[in-house]
Amino acid sequence: MRTIPPVGTLAGLLVGLWLLVILGGGVAVLAGHLLARLLRARRDRRHPQQAAVRERTRQARRLAAEWPLLAQTLGLGYRDQWTRQHRFPAAEFVADDQGVTATVAAIAGAGLADYQQVAGYLADTWGCVTVRAEQQGPGLIQLRGLHRDPLLAPARIDLSGTAPASLESWWLGWAEDGSLVMIRLAEVSGTVIGGLAGFGKTMLVAHLLGQLAPSPAVQFVLIDGKGGPDYDRLFPRAWLLAKDDLDQVRDVLRKVHRLMIERQASIAQFLGVTDAWHLGPSPSWPLVVVVIDEAHTFFHERKGTSPEVKAHNALVAELSRLVEELIRKGRNVAIQVMLLTQRATGDAIPTRIRDNCQVGISFATRTLDGAVAALGEEIRQHPDASPVLLNDPAYVGVAVTSLPGRPGFHRVRTPLVNRHQVAAIIRATAGLRADPAGLLAEQAPGLRVVPEMPAPGDAARASRSASARSCLEWWLKPSPGPVLVMTAGWSRSRRPVTAPTRCACAVGCSTPTHRPVRSARCTRPTGSRTPPS
Ligand SMILES: Nc1ncnc2c1ncn2[C@@H]1O[C@H](COP(=O)(O)OP(=O)(O)OP(=O)(O)O)[C@@H](O)[C@H]1O
Ligand SMILES: [Mg+2]
Repeated sequence: MRTIPPVGTLAGLLVGLWLLVILGGGVAVLAGHLLARLLRARRDRRHPQQAAVRERTRQARRLAAEWPLLAQTLGLGYRDQWTRQHRFPAAEFVADDQGVTATVAAIAGAGLADYQQVAGYLADTWGCVTVRAEQQGPGLIQLRGLHRDPLLAPARIDLSGTAPASLESWWLGWAEDGSLVMIRLAEVSGTVIGGLAGFGKTMLVAHLLGQLAPSPAVQFVLIDGKGGPDYDRLFPRAWLLAKDDLDQVRDVLRKVHRLMIERQASIAQFLGVTDAWHLGPSPSWPLVVVVIDEAHTFFHERKGTSPEVKAHNALVAELSRLVEELIRKGRNVAIQVMLLTQRATGDAIPTRIRDNCQVGISFATRTLDGAVAALGEEIRQHPDASPVLLNDPAYVGVAVTSLPGRPGFHRVRTPLVNRHQVAAIIRATAGLRADPAGLLAEQAPGLRVVPEMPAPGDAARASRSASARSCLEWWLKPSPGPVLVMTAGWSRSRRPVTAPTRCACAVGCSTPTHRPVRSARCTRPTGSRTPPS
Protein backbone atom coordinates (compact mmCIF):
# COMPACT_ATOMS: atom_id res chain seq x y z
CA MET A 1 0.00 0.00 0.00
CA ARG A 2 1.38 3.34 -1.12
CA THR A 3 1.75 6.03 1.44
CA ILE A 4 1.15 9.63 0.43
CA PRO A 5 3.85 12.00 1.79
CA PRO A 6 2.39 14.55 4.07
CA VAL A 7 1.97 18.06 2.66
CA GLY A 8 4.14 19.51 5.39
CA THR A 9 7.11 17.35 4.37
CA LEU A 10 6.75 18.39 0.71
CA ALA A 11 6.62 22.06 1.57
CA GLY A 12 9.61 21.63 3.82
CA LEU A 13 11.48 19.97 1.00
CA LEU A 14 10.63 22.82 -1.36
CA VAL A 15 11.70 25.43 1.15
CA GLY A 16 14.89 23.52 1.80
CA LEU A 17 15.58 23.34 -1.89
CA TRP A 18 14.83 27.03 -2.27
CA LEU A 19 17.17 27.90 0.54
CA LEU A 20 19.79 25.70 -1.03
CA VAL A 21 19.36 27.52 -4.36
CA ILE A 22 19.61 30.89 -2.60
CA LEU A 23 22.67 29.79 -0.70
CA GLY A 24 24.23 28.34 -3.81
CA GLY A 25 23.41 31.51 -5.74
CA GLY A 26 24.81 33.66 -2.96
CA VAL A 27 27.98 31.64 -2.80
CA ALA A 28 28.28 31.79 -6.60
CA VAL A 29 27.75 35.57 -6.63
CA LEU A 30 30.26 36.00 -3.80
CA ALA A 31 32.75 33.77 -5.53
CA GLY A 32 32.18 35.58 -8.81
CA HIS A 33 32.61 38.91 -7.08
CA LEU A 34 35.78 37.82 -5.36
CA LEU A 35 37.10 36.32 -8.56
CA ALA A 36 36.26 39.48 -10.51
CA ARG A 37 38.02 41.56 -7.89
CA LEU A 38 40.97 39.26 -8.04
CA LEU A 39 41.05 39.47 -11.82
CA ARG A 40 40.60 43.24 -11.73
CA ALA A 41 43.39 43.60 -9.20
CA ARG A 42 45.62 41.45 -11.39
CA ARG A 43 44.74 43.45 -14.48
CA ASP A 44 45.31 46.70 -12.60
CA ARG A 45 48.69 45.44 -11.48
CA ARG A 46 49.55 44.61 -15.06
CA HIS A 47 48.20 47.85 -16.53
CA PRO A 48 48.43 50.46 -13.80
CA GLN A 49 47.83 53.38 -16.16
CA GLN A 50 44.52 52.03 -17.38
CA ALA A 51 43.55 51.36 -13.81
CA ALA A 52 44.33 54.94 -12.89
CA VAL A 53 42.23 56.21 -15.79
CA ARG A 54 39.29 54.03 -14.67
CA GLU A 55 39.65 55.28 -11.13
CA ARG A 56 39.68 58.90 -12.30
CA THR A 57 36.61 58.34 -14.46
CA ARG A 58 34.82 56.85 -11.46
CA GLN A 59 35.88 59.80 -9.33
CA ALA A 60 34.70 62.30 -11.96
CA ARG A 61 31.30 60.53 -12.16
CA ARG A 62 30.96 60.59 -8.40
CA LEU A 63 31.78 64.31 -8.23
CA ALA A 64 29.29 65.04 -11.01
CA ALA A 65 26.59 63.09 -9.16
CA GLU A 66 27.30 64.94 -5.92
CA TRP A 67 27.49 68.38 -7.57
CA PRO A 68 23.79 69.39 -7.48
CA LEU A 69 23.56 68.83 -3.74
CA LEU A 70 26.96 70.42 -3.08
CA ALA A 71 26.08 73.48 -5.19
CA GLN A 72 22.81 73.86 -3.33
CA THR A 73 24.50 73.45 0.05
CA LEU A 74 27.08 76.13 -0.80
CA GLY A 75 24.41 78.43 -2.19
CA LEU A 76 25.78 78.42 -5.71
CA GLY A 77 23.03 79.32 -8.17
CA TYR A 78 19.61 80.83 -7.56
CA ARG A 79 16.09 79.95 -6.49
CA ASP A 80 13.58 79.77 -9.34
CA GLN A 81 10.70 82.12 -8.49
CA TRP A 82 8.12 79.98 -10.32
CA THR A 83 9.04 76.45 -9.38
CA ARG A 84 10.66 77.37 -6.05
CA GLN A 85 13.44 74.99 -6.97
CA HIS A 86 17.17 75.67 -6.62
CA ARG A 87 18.87 76.16 -9.99
CA PHE A 88 22.48 75.06 -9.76
CA PRO A 89 25.16 75.76 -12.38
CA ALA A 90 25.93 73.01 -14.85
CA ALA A 91 29.31 71.37 -14.31
CA GLU A 92 31.60 68.97 -16.07
CA PHE A 93 34.29 67.14 -14.12
CA VAL A 94 37.64 65.73 -15.17
CA ALA A 95 39.94 64.07 -12.65
CA ASP A 96 43.67 63.67 -13.28
CA ASP A 97 46.64 62.51 -11.27
CA GLN A 98 47.15 65.98 -9.78
CA GLY A 99 43.59 66.84 -8.90
CA VAL A 100 40.20 67.77 -10.24
CA THR A 101 39.15 70.21 -12.94
CA ALA A 102 35.54 71.32 -13.03
CA THR A 103 34.27 73.46 -15.87
CA VAL A 104 31.24 75.20 -14.45
CA ALA A 105 28.72 77.66 -15.77
CA ALA A 106 28.65 81.20 -14.49
CA ILE A 107 25.03 82.01 -13.71
CA ALA A 108 23.19 84.23 -11.27
CA GLY A 109 24.50 83.51 -7.79
CA ALA A 110 27.44 81.56 -9.16
CA GLY A 111 29.91 84.05 -10.63
CA LEU A 112 33.68 84.08 -10.34
CA ALA A 113 33.58 85.87 -6.99
CA ASP A 114 31.05 83.32 -5.62
CA TYR A 115 33.24 80.39 -6.62
CA GLN A 116 36.30 82.09 -5.17
CA GLN A 117 34.44 82.59 -1.90
CA VAL A 118 33.58 78.90 -1.52
CA ALA A 119 36.92 77.63 -2.86
CA GLY A 120 37.96 76.49 0.61
CA TYR A 121 34.83 74.35 1.08
CA LEU A 122 35.20 72.88 -2.39
CA ALA A 123 38.82 71.98 -1.60
CA ASP A 124 37.78 70.20 1.60
CA THR A 125 34.98 68.30 -0.14
CA TRP A 126 37.10 67.22 -3.06
CA GLY A 127 40.09 66.25 -0.92
CA CYS A 128 42.30 68.97 -2.40
CA VAL A 129 44.79 71.34 -0.78
CA THR A 130 43.60 74.25 -2.91
CA VAL A 131 40.88 75.04 -5.41
CA ARG A 132 41.38 77.99 -7.77
CA ALA A 133 38.65 79.60 -9.81
CA GLU A 134 39.47 81.20 -13.16
CA GLN A 135 37.23 82.82 -15.73
CA GLN A 136 37.71 80.90 -18.97
CA GLY A 137 35.40 83.01 -21.06
CA PRO A 138 31.96 84.59 -20.90
CA GLY A 139 29.73 82.38 -18.77
CA LEU A 140 32.44 79.79 -18.22
CA ILE A 141 34.59 79.26 -15.14
CA GLN A 142 37.23 76.68 -14.44
CA LEU A 143 37.74 75.32 -10.95
CA ARG A 144 41.08 73.62 -10.48
CA GLY A 145 41.62 71.55 -7.36
CA LEU A 146 45.03 70.12 -6.53
CA HIS A 147 45.68 67.16 -4.23
CA ARG A 148 49.21 68.36 -3.62
CA ASP A 149 50.66 71.78 -4.38
CA PRO A 150 52.96 71.12 -7.34
CA LEU A 151 54.84 74.37 -6.70
CA LEU A 152 56.07 73.36 -3.26
CA ALA A 153 59.12 71.47 -4.45
CA PRO A 154 62.12 73.62 -5.48
CA ALA A 155 63.37 72.91 -8.97
CA ARG A 156 67.02 73.08 -9.95
CA ILE A 157 68.03 73.54 -13.54
CA ASP A 158 71.16 73.48 -15.63
CA LEU A 159 71.55 76.43 -17.97
CA SER A 160 72.55 75.60 -21.51
CA GLY A 161 74.84 78.60 -21.93
CA THR A 162 73.69 79.05 -25.51
CA ALA A 163 72.01 82.12 -26.92
CA PRO A 164 68.20 81.97 -26.92
CA ALA A 165 66.54 81.33 -30.28
CA SER A 166 64.34 84.39 -29.82
CA LEU A 167 64.46 87.55 -27.75
CA GLU A 168 60.70 87.97 -27.85
CA SER A 169 60.42 86.52 -24.35
CA TRP A 170 62.39 84.93 -21.54
CA TRP A 171 61.65 81.89 -19.46
CA LEU A 172 60.38 82.59 -15.94
CA GLY A 173 59.52 79.08 -14.70
CA TRP A 174 56.70 76.57 -14.56
CA ALA A 175 52.99 77.14 -14.00
CA GLU A 176 50.89 74.89 -11.75
CA ASP A 177 50.04 72.65 -14.68
CA GLY A 178 53.72 72.17 -15.48
CA SER A 179 53.64 74.36 -18.60
CA LEU A 180 56.52 76.73 -19.24
CA VAL A 181 55.84 80.37 -18.41
CA MET A 182 57.45 82.91 -20.69
CA ILE A 183 57.65 86.62 -19.92
CA ARG A 184 57.43 89.12 -22.72
CA LEU A 185 60.61 91.02 -23.64
CA ALA A 186 59.39 92.51 -26.91
CA GLU A 187 57.68 95.89 -26.71
CA VAL A 188 58.26 96.06 -22.96
CA SER A 189 60.04 98.96 -21.34
CA GLY A 190 59.37 98.31 -17.68
CA THR A 191 59.08 95.37 -15.31
CA VAL A 192 58.46 95.49 -11.58
CA ILE A 193 59.57 92.52 -9.51
CA GLY A 194 58.44 92.76 -5.90
CA GLY A 195 58.67 90.42 -2.96
CA LEU A 196 59.88 90.02 0.58
CA ALA A 197 63.58 89.65 1.32
CA GLY A 198 64.99 86.23 0.59
CA PHE A 199 62.22 84.98 -1.69
CA GLY A 200 64.20 84.79 -4.92
CA LYS A 201 64.33 88.18 -6.66
CA THR A 202 68.09 88.26 -7.21
CA MET A 203 68.10 84.58 -8.12
CA LEU A 204 65.63 85.50 -10.85
CA VAL A 205 68.09 88.06 -12.21
CA ALA A 206 70.83 85.41 -12.24
CA HIS A 207 68.46 83.12 -14.15
CA LEU A 208 67.63 85.92 -16.58
CA LEU A 209 71.28 86.74 -17.20
CA GLY A 210 72.08 83.04 -17.54
CA GLN A 211 69.59 82.93 -20.40
CA LEU A 212 70.29 86.23 -22.13
CA ALA A 213 74.03 86.76 -21.56
CA PRO A 214 75.09 84.41 -24.40
CA SER A 215 73.24 86.60 -26.88
CA PRO A 216 75.33 89.32 -28.54
CA ALA A 217 72.06 91.18 -29.13
CA VAL A 218 71.64 91.99 -25.43
CA GLN A 219 73.61 94.43 -23.29
CA PHE A 220 73.12 94.83 -19.56
CA VAL A 221 73.22 97.69 -17.13
CA LEU A 222 73.40 96.33 -13.59
CA ILE A 223 72.70 98.49 -10.56
CA ASP A 224 72.66 96.86 -7.14
CA GLY A 225 71.07 99.04 -4.51
CA LYS A 226 72.02 96.59 -1.80
CA GLY A 227 75.69 97.25 -2.44
CA GLY A 228 76.66 93.74 -1.39
CA PRO A 229 78.43 91.00 -3.31
CA ASP A 230 75.28 89.61 -5.02
CA TYR A 231 76.16 91.05 -8.44
CA ASP A 232 79.95 90.77 -8.35
CA ARG A 233 79.93 87.69 -10.55
CA LEU A 234 77.42 89.21 -12.96
CA PHE A 235 79.19 92.54 -13.46
CA PRO A 236 81.76 91.31 -16.04
CA ARG A 237 78.98 91.02 -18.63
CA ALA A 238 77.54 94.46 -17.90
CA TRP A 239 78.02 97.43 -20.19
CA LEU A 240 77.53 99.74 -17.20
CA LEU A 241 77.40 98.90 -13.52
CA ALA A 242 76.98 100.55 -10.16
CA LYS A 243 76.30 99.61 -6.59
CA ASP A 244 74.53 101.79 -4.02
CA ASP A 245 76.50 104.99 -4.62
CA LEU A 246 73.84 107.43 -5.77
CA ASP A 247 76.25 109.63 -7.76
CA GLN A 248 77.55 106.57 -9.60
CA VAL A 249 74.03 105.41 -10.27
CA ARG A 250 73.10 108.85 -11.57
CA ASP A 251 76.07 108.80 -13.98
CA VAL A 252 75.11 105.33 -15.21
CA LEU A 253 71.47 106.26 -15.71
CA ARG A 254 72.42 109.47 -17.50
CA LYS A 255 74.45 107.43 -19.97
CA VAL A 256 71.53 105.09 -20.60
CA HIS A 257 69.18 108.04 -20.91
CA ARG A 258 71.50 109.65 -23.40
CA LEU A 259 71.64 106.43 -25.39
CA MET A 260 67.85 106.47 -25.46
CA ILE A 261 67.79 110.01 -26.84
CA GLU A 262 70.40 109.16 -29.46
CA ARG A 263 68.53 106.06 -30.45
CA GLN A 264 65.26 107.96 -30.68
CA ALA A 265 66.98 110.50 -32.86
CA SER A 266 68.52 107.97 -35.20
CA ILE A 267 66.22 104.95 -35.23
CA ALA A 268 64.32 105.92 -38.35
CA GLN A 269 67.51 106.61 -40.23
CA PHE A 270 69.47 103.70 -38.83
CA LEU A 271 66.88 100.93 -38.82
CA GLY A 272 64.36 102.29 -41.31
CA VAL A 273 61.56 101.70 -38.79
CA THR A 274 60.35 103.62 -35.78
CA ASP A 275 60.09 100.58 -33.52
CA ALA A 276 63.21 98.47 -33.04
CA TRP A 277 61.05 95.45 -32.14
CA HIS A 278 59.74 95.32 -35.70
CA LEU A 279 63.20 94.02 -36.65
CA GLY A 280 64.21 92.63 -33.26
CA PRO A 281 67.40 93.35 -31.34
CA SER A 282 70.71 92.73 -33.11
CA PRO A 283 74.39 92.98 -32.15
CA SER A 284 74.51 96.46 -33.71
CA TRP A 285 71.26 97.56 -32.05
CA PRO A 286 71.18 95.43 -28.90
CA LEU A 287 68.38 95.22 -26.39
CA VAL A 288 69.53 97.12 -23.31
CA VAL A 289 68.30 95.54 -20.08
CA VAL A 290 68.70 97.87 -17.10
CA VAL A 291 68.40 95.90 -13.86
CA ILE A 292 67.94 98.02 -10.72
CA ASP A 293 67.94 95.75 -7.68
CA GLU A 294 66.65 97.10 -4.36
CA ALA A 295 65.33 99.99 -6.45
CA HIS A 296 63.68 101.68 -3.45
CA THR A 297 67.19 102.69 -2.32
CA PHE A 298 67.32 105.25 -5.12
CA PHE A 299 63.89 106.80 -4.71
CA HIS A 300 63.95 107.50 -1.01
CA GLU A 301 63.68 111.21 -0.26
CA ARG A 302 64.84 112.50 3.10
CA LYS A 303 63.07 115.00 5.30
CA GLY A 304 64.84 118.19 6.33
CA THR A 305 66.14 121.47 5.01
CA SER A 306 69.88 121.08 5.44
CA PRO A 307 72.01 121.50 2.29
CA GLU A 308 72.94 117.77 2.37
CA VAL A 309 69.31 116.76 2.51
CA LYS A 310 68.46 119.14 -0.32
CA ALA A 311 71.33 117.82 -2.42
CA HIS A 312 70.26 114.25 -1.70
CA ASN A 313 66.65 114.96 -2.63
CA ALA A 314 67.72 116.72 -5.84
CA LEU A 315 69.72 113.64 -6.74
CA VAL A 316 66.79 111.36 -5.97
CA ALA A 317 64.52 113.56 -8.07
CA GLU A 318 66.91 113.26 -10.99
CA LEU A 319 67.16 109.47 -10.61
CA SER A 320 63.35 109.25 -10.58
CA ARG A 321 63.12 111.40 -13.67
CA LEU A 322 65.72 109.37 -15.55
CA VAL A 323 64.10 106.02 -14.67
CA GLU A 324 60.64 107.32 -15.44
CA GLU A 325 61.68 108.60 -18.85
CA LEU A 326 63.51 105.38 -19.68
CA ILE A 327 60.37 103.40 -18.91
CA ARG A 328 58.07 105.85 -20.64
CA LYS A 329 60.11 106.31 -23.79
CA GLY A 330 62.46 103.34 -24.04
CA ARG A 331 60.14 100.70 -25.50
CA ASN A 332 60.51 101.44 -29.19
CA VAL A 333 64.30 101.73 -29.01
CA ALA A 334 64.68 98.41 -27.14
CA ILE A 335 65.60 99.74 -23.73
CA GLN A 336 64.00 97.96 -20.82
CA VAL A 337 64.18 98.68 -17.10
CA MET A 338 63.66 96.00 -14.45
CA LEU A 339 62.97 97.31 -10.98
CA LEU A 340 63.39 94.85 -8.13
CA THR A 341 62.29 95.79 -4.67
CA GLN A 342 61.29 94.32 -1.34
CA ARG A 343 58.43 96.80 -1.21
CA ALA A 344 56.80 97.87 -4.42
CA THR A 345 54.44 100.29 -2.67
CA GLY A 346 54.09 103.92 -3.71
CA ASP A 347 56.43 105.19 -1.01
CA ALA A 348 59.17 102.82 -2.20
CA ILE A 349 58.86 103.25 -5.98
CA PRO A 350 57.04 106.34 -7.26
CA THR A 351 53.71 105.32 -8.72
CA ARG A 352 54.32 107.27 -11.93
CA ILE A 353 57.27 104.92 -12.55
CA ARG A 354 55.61 101.73 -11.35
CA ASP A 355 52.34 102.24 -13.18
CA ASN A 356 54.06 102.54 -16.55
CA CYS A 357 55.67 99.11 -16.25
CA GLN A 358 53.94 96.59 -18.52
CA VAL A 359 55.07 93.48 -16.62
CA GLY A 360 54.58 92.80 -12.92
CA ILE A 361 55.92 89.84 -10.99
CA SER A 362 55.51 89.39 -7.26
CA PHE A 363 57.12 86.92 -4.92
CA ALA A 364 55.65 86.54 -1.43
CA THR A 365 54.38 89.73 0.16
CA ARG A 366 53.16 90.39 3.65
CA THR A 367 50.28 92.65 2.74
CA LEU A 368 47.81 92.87 -0.10
CA ASP A 369 48.99 96.45 -0.73
CA GLY A 370 52.44 95.08 -1.55
CA ALA A 371 50.86 92.65 -4.01
CA VAL A 372 48.74 95.44 -5.55
CA ALA A 373 51.84 97.56 -5.98
CA ALA A 374 53.57 94.94 -8.09
CA LEU A 375 50.61 93.37 -9.87
CA GLY A 376 48.01 96.13 -10.02
CA GLU A 377 44.57 96.55 -8.50
CA GLU A 378 43.23 93.47 -10.29
CA ILE A 379 44.99 91.12 -7.88
CA ARG A 380 42.37 92.13 -5.29
CA GLN A 381 39.82 90.20 -7.39
CA HIS A 382 41.93 87.03 -7.21
CA PRO A 383 42.50 86.29 -3.53
CA ASP A 384 43.27 82.63 -4.28
CA ALA A 385 46.35 83.68 -6.31
CA SER A 386 47.47 86.39 -3.90
CA PRO A 387 51.22 86.56 -3.16
CA VAL A 388 50.21 87.01 0.49
CA LEU A 389 49.50 83.26 0.54
CA LEU A 390 53.12 82.59 -0.49
CA ASN A 391 54.51 84.02 2.72
CA ASP A 392 55.93 80.69 3.81
CA PRO A 393 59.50 79.38 3.44
CA ALA A 394 58.13 76.52 1.33
CA TYR A 395 57.23 79.08 -1.33
CA VAL A 396 60.68 80.64 -1.73
CA GLY A 397 61.09 80.91 -5.50
CA VAL A 398 57.35 80.96 -6.25
CA ALA A 399 56.03 84.12 -7.88
CA VAL A 400 52.68 85.40 -9.11
CA THR A 401 52.23 87.09 -12.45
CA SER A 402 49.65 87.59 -15.17
CA LEU A 403 50.18 85.83 -18.46
CA PRO A 404 49.28 87.03 -21.94
CA GLY A 405 46.20 85.33 -23.33
CA ARG A 406 45.31 83.79 -19.96
CA PRO A 407 42.91 85.62 -17.67
CA GLY A 408 43.67 86.27 -14.03
CA PHE A 409 46.95 85.62 -12.24
CA HIS A 410 49.15 82.56 -12.14
CA ARG A 411 51.59 81.18 -9.65
CA VAL A 412 54.94 80.24 -11.12
CA ARG A 413 57.77 78.15 -9.70
CA THR A 414 61.02 79.84 -10.70
CA PRO A 415 64.05 77.61 -10.98
CA LEU A 416 66.99 77.55 -8.64
CA VAL A 417 70.08 78.17 -10.73
CA ASN A 418 73.60 77.30 -9.79
CA ARG A 419 75.37 80.60 -9.17
CA HIS A 420 78.73 79.06 -10.20
CA GLN A 421 77.20 77.97 -13.47
CA VAL A 422 75.83 81.46 -14.09
CA ALA A 423 79.22 82.91 -13.21
CA ALA A 424 80.85 80.57 -15.74
CA ILE A 425 78.40 81.71 -18.43
CA ILE A 426 79.11 85.34 -17.55
CA ARG A 427 82.87 84.75 -17.77
CA ALA A 428 82.50 82.95 -21.08
CA THR A 429 80.36 85.70 -22.57
CA ALA A 430 82.11 88.74 -21.08
CA GLY A 431 83.61 89.37 -24.52
CA LEU A 432 80.14 90.17 -25.85
CA ARG A 433 79.97 93.24 -23.65
CA ALA A 434 79.78 96.35 -25.80
CA ASP A 435 78.84 100.00 -25.59
CA PRO A 436 75.57 100.40 -27.51
CA ALA A 437 76.24 104.11 -27.97
CA GLY A 438 79.62 103.31 -29.50
CA LEU A 439 78.01 100.71 -31.74
CA LEU A 440 75.54 103.32 -32.90
CA ALA A 441 78.25 105.84 -33.66
CA GLU A 442 80.27 103.20 -35.53
CA GLN A 443 77.34 102.27 -37.72
CA ALA A 444 76.30 105.82 -38.46
CA PRO A 445 79.46 107.93 -38.40
CA GLY A 446 77.55 111.04 -39.50
CA LEU A 447 75.63 110.99 -36.25
CA ARG A 448 77.58 112.77 -33.58
CA VAL A 449 76.89 112.11 -29.94
CA VAL A 450 75.56 115.24 -28.29
CA PRO A 451 76.26 116.12 -24.69
CA GLU A 452 73.46 115.21 -22.38
CA MET A 453 70.98 117.84 -21.44
CA PRO A 454 71.94 118.92 -17.93
CA ALA A 455 69.48 118.60 -15.10
CA PRO A 456 68.15 121.87 -13.64
CA GLY A 457 70.62 121.80 -10.74
CA ASP A 458 73.48 121.05 -13.07
CA ALA A 459 72.50 123.88 -15.39
CA ALA A 460 73.16 126.35 -12.62
CA ARG A 461 76.44 124.65 -11.84
CA ALA A 462 77.38 124.63 -15.48
CA SER A 463 76.68 128.32 -15.83
CA ARG A 464 79.20 129.00 -13.12
CA SER A 465 81.74 126.78 -14.77
CA ALA A 466 84.41 128.57 -16.79
CA SER A 467 84.31 125.83 -19.38
CA ALA A 468 80.61 125.91 -19.93
CA ARG A 469 79.70 123.24 -22.41
CA SER A 470 78.10 124.16 -25.65
CA CYS A 471 74.72 122.61 -25.82
CA LEU A 472 73.27 121.01 -28.89
CA GLU A 473 69.91 119.52 -29.49
CA TRP A 474 69.15 116.94 -32.09
CA TRP A 475 66.11 117.31 -34.22
CA LEU A 476 64.71 114.50 -36.17
CA LYS A 477 62.93 114.80 -39.48
CA PRO A 478 59.59 112.98 -39.58
CA SER A 479 60.88 110.40 -42.04
CA PRO A 480 64.30 108.74 -42.19
CA GLY A 481 66.51 111.61 -43.10
CA PRO A 482 68.82 114.27 -41.88
CA VAL A 483 69.11 115.51 -38.37
CA LEU A 484 69.37 119.18 -37.61
CA VAL A 485 71.54 120.52 -34.86
CA MET A 486 70.34 123.56 -33.00
CA THR A 487 72.11 125.84 -30.63
CA ALA A 488 70.27 127.78 -28.03
CA GLY A 489 70.61 130.16 -25.15
CA TRP A 490 68.58 132.70 -23.29
CA SER A 491 68.03 136.32 -24.09
CA ARG A 492 68.33 139.01 -21.48
CA SER A 493 64.63 138.79 -20.95
CA ARG A 494 65.19 135.06 -20.06
CA ARG A 495 63.32 133.94 -23.14
CA PRO A 496 64.79 130.88 -24.83
CA VAL A 497 66.53 131.49 -28.12
CA THR A 498 66.98 128.72 -30.64
CA ALA A 499 68.72 128.99 -33.97
CA PRO A 500 69.66 126.37 -36.52
CA THR A 501 73.39 126.40 -37.07
CA ARG A 502 74.27 123.42 -39.19
CA CYS A 503 73.03 120.09 -40.17
CA ALA A 504 74.93 117.03 -38.97
CA CYS A 505 72.94 114.44 -40.80
CA ALA A 506 74.50 111.22 -41.93
CA VAL A 507 73.74 111.93 -45.55
CA GLY A 508 76.03 114.90 -45.55
CA CYS A 509 73.64 117.80 -45.88
CA SER A 510 75.31 120.98 -44.73
CA THR A 511 72.72 123.67 -44.99
CA PRO A 512 70.33 124.68 -42.27
CA THR A 513 67.39 124.38 -44.60
CA HIS A 514 65.66 121.57 -42.80
CA ARG A 515 62.69 122.73 -40.93
CA PRO A 516 62.67 121.28 -37.40
CA VAL A 517 59.71 119.02 -36.75
CA ARG A 518 59.08 120.62 -33.44
CA SER A 519 60.83 123.26 -31.46
CA ALA A 520 62.05 122.88 -27.94
CA ARG A 521 64.28 124.78 -25.68
CA CYS A 522 67.88 123.80 -25.45
CA THR A 523 69.59 124.27 -22.13
CA ARG A 524 72.77 125.77 -23.41
CA PRO A 525 74.30 127.82 -20.66
CA THR A 526 76.83 129.59 -22.89
CA GLY A 527 76.00 133.23 -23.26
CA SER A 528 73.36 132.94 -20.67
CA ARG A 529 73.57 135.17 -17.67
CA THR A 530 70.62 133.78 -15.88
CA PRO A 531 69.83 130.22 -16.80
CA PRO A 532 66.23 129.34 -16.12
CA SER A 533 65.67 127.64 -12.84
N1 LIG B 1 63.78 79.74 -7.28
C1 LIG B 1 64.23 79.36 -6.10
N2 LIG B 1 63.97 78.12 -5.64
C2 LIG B 1 64.41 77.75 -4.44
N3 LIG B 1 65.13 78.54 -3.61
C3 LIG B 1 65.43 79.77 -4.01
C4 LIG B 1 64.99 80.25 -5.28
N4 LIG B 1 65.41 81.51 -5.42
C5 LIG B 1 66.08 81.81 -4.30
N5 LIG B 1 66.10 80.77 -3.46
C6 LIG B 1 66.75 80.73 -2.15
O1 LIG B 1 66.52 81.95 -1.48
C7 LIG B 1 67.74 82.60 -1.18
C8 LIG B 1 67.58 84.09 -1.33
O2 LIG B 1 67.34 84.39 -2.68
P1 LIG B 1 67.59 85.84 -3.27
O3 LIG B 1 68.92 86.34 -2.89
O4 LIG B 1 67.30 85.77 -4.71
O5 LIG B 1 66.48 86.65 -2.48
P2 LIG B 1 66.04 88.18 -2.67
O6 LIG B 1 64.58 88.19 -2.87
O7 LIG B 1 66.88 88.83 -3.70
O8 LIG B 1 66.35 88.77 -1.24
P3 LIG B 1 66.79 90.27 -0.88
O9 LIG B 1 65.61 91.14 -1.11
O10 LIG B 1 67.19 90.22 0.55
O11 LIG B 1 67.94 90.62 -1.77
C9 LIG B 1 68.75 81.99 -2.14
O12 LIG B 1 70.05 81.99 -1.61
C10 LIG B 1 68.25 80.60 -2.32
O13 LIG B 1 68.74 79.75 -1.32
MG1 LIG C 1 68.24 90.43 -3.68
